[in-house]
Amino acid sequence: MRIDIITVQPELIQSPLSHSIVKRAIDKGLAEIIIHNLRDYATDKYKSVDDYAFGGGAGMVMKIEPVYKAIENLKQERDYDEIIYTSPDGTLFNQNTANELSTYQNLIILCGHYKGVDHRIREHLITREISIGNYVLSGGELAAAVISDAIIRLIPGVISDETSALTDSFQDNLLAPPVYTRPETFKGWRVPEILRSGNFEKIEKWRFEQSLERTKNLRPELLDEDPDE
Ligand code: ADE
Repeated sequence: MRIDIITVQPELIQSPLSHSIVKRAIDKGLAEIIIHNLRDYATDKYKSVDDYAFGGGAGMVMKIEPVYKAIENLKQERDYDEIIYTSPDGTLFNQNTANELSTYQNLIILCGHYKGVDHRIREHLITREISIGNYVLSGGELAAAVISDAIIRLIPGVISDETSALTDSFQDNLLAPPVYTRPETFKGWRVPEILRSGNFEKIEKWRFEQSLERTKNLRPELLDEDPDE
């Protein structure tokens, strides 16, 4: 999978996508993330990527020409499955969207900034708008990093234990069961006996019950959702 991220703040994305599982995916050649500085596509001599809003009002607006040029350049090289715009107006990101996007080959993510982007970009160039939550970030970069991380870890072969991504919280709309490691007892707090029993059938049953119980107590609304929606 290849993800092209277009941003006015490349430094904000570089670090979160240079470590851990995402780094491993890149090193293994299973994912490629290319970060494009929108300023490199500016079309005027001042290299400007934003301008005042027509009709007045506070805040700058991302200009259409650099975004158009960046996207068109990329589209000339390959076909893209989705051209995503990160914005609080978008559809709320969830595990199902991550699963769907992880099956694609080429994605572009345009990070929103300033007061927003010229609306013609959203009307004519963007195929999907995604929000990562009902709050407003300073820019779409952290959202792009969150989306990329959630997608990349699902690509087959990225996580060495094949079943690991499938047992994450939210797959099947259930929270993950509790996990423990050594020591067996710490300050008198003991690891549940069943996990040390060696009876894998019973352990699986216990984990499922714990998942259900935790979901009921902590996130009951997940149980009302269709896991395929
Ligand atoms: N940009 C600003 N806030 C955002 C959010 N909640 N999700 C995605 N992009 C954003």
